[in-house]
Amino acid sequence: MIVDANYKKENIPVRFLGNPLIEALPEIMEPIALLKLLALKPKHDLAASKRSPAHVRIYDVPCLKELYVPPPVAMEFCVSVDQMLLNSYGGRHPFSRDTQEWLHSPVELMRIQGAFSDTLQGMIFVIGGSGMGKTRLVRVCLSRYPQCIRHTSYNGREFNQMQVVSISVEVPSTGSFKTLMHRLFGALDDALGQPGKPDSYVVEHEDSSVDTMLLKFADAAKNHFLGLIHIDDLQRSLEVHSGKAIVKFIIQLASVLKCPVIFSATEEVTAMFEDIKKFESARRAIKEGSFYMHQAASADDPFFSRLFVEAMKWQWTDEPIAPSEPLKKLLFNMCVGITALFVFLHTQAQTRALMIGATALKLEHYVHVYRHGLRPLRRVLHAIRNGQSQQPKEIEEFLKAVSDPQPGG
Ligand SMILES: Nc1ncnc2c1ncn2[C@@H]1O[C@H](COP(=O)(O)OP(=O)(O)O)[C@@H](O)[C@H]1O
Ligand SMILES: [Mg+2]
Repeated sequence: MIVDANYKKENIPVRFLGNPLIEALPEIMEPIALLKLLALKPKHDLAASKRSPAHVRIYDVPCLKELYVPPPVAMEFCVSVDQMLLNSYGGRHPFSRDTQEWLHSPVELMRIQGAFSDTLQGMIFVIGGSGMGKTRLVRVCLSRYPQCIRHTSYNGREFNQMQVVSISVEVPSTGSFKTLMHRLFGALDDALGQPGKPDSYVVEHEDSSVDTMLLKFADAAKNHFLGLIHIDDLQRSLEVHSGKAIVKFIIQLASVLKCPVIFSATEEVTAMFEDIKKFESARRAIKEGSFYMHQAASADDPFFSRLFVEAMKWQWTDEPIAPSEPLKKLLFNMCVGITALFVFLHTQAQTRALMIGATALKLEHYVHVYRHGLRPLRRVLHAIRNGQSQQPKEIEEFLKAVSDPQPGG
């Protein structure tokens, strides 16, 4: 989404006043208002939907995916991201002489690929198992900002600038630098509202070499004052030979762009940084600035309980199932506390009930989905229940196979 800059002088730290890149961002919110903003309900008229026939209603059930119950780390995470973004833009005042020199100095390939410097503007890790809500947390947090802001003038002074606040890309599972560069360009094109157009970056660089793409991306990102890069599924880099080189490349690129980075990954990545001296700041960021998405240990977990209560408000059958404690325990046992599996069970059970013409949602519908829909995971879910397995790859693969594109927020 591209919005026209609307400069605000309220609710931003005074030291950032006069910086249009910061004044154009949404105002900083009070904690209670922030929490309210993060808690998302499906934009859907349930009562109206329930007046339609069951076979039509089935297609409304996926609206449940828009529900967002902020996990315990959400507030602190958003505040950290805000701080990182403000500090990074604070150090890139568009009218300062330093920034102008930086903008006009050529990005040297050497500085990106050569002498490694991991002095980043900021780095945050979101760590947690597959399906625990890492991607969603980052997307909901970033959706508070417009992705791109159009500036034309500031305080009577001409200021033509498209400011890209954030982009998000997944690490390619092949470990290909070229794919990574195409994804970065694609994300920039999306933010600038130019995907697929003849002058889009992706089209322009379809056949460019990795080195050329790197230089062009660095220039483009610099010129658009890219605020933040989110790198999702960093654990994929562990599976490929070029994994460490990819991570080094991303950190180096972000450092040249003066752009902070959010990495989301499963816990295995933490080991990757341990034995490499060069990743000092990443190691520090993991130790000091990590946000863990903990898997609930029991049905009494406060987050799981809230998720259960909120999700139960969204039922499309004529007669809803009552949100009782035994039901919560049973569902917890089925999904072993994995958020994505809980959402899967609740949506699929309703789809099943509506499909077979049941007027009431019943336990048997959940059991059916558990037995059939979750069959590929039976062995690993059993192992997790017995404390024998933490991060089975099967869960990541299962979720990838059943997932739709993520709602942003
Ligand atoms: N806090 C939450 N509230 C409601 N649904 C959630 C929440 N976190 C995750 N989900 C749902 O769970 C699924 C998996 O989330 P995702 O962010 O993709 O997990 P991860 O990136 O950790 O593998 C998605 O369908 C998402 O919408
Ligand atoms: Mg994810």
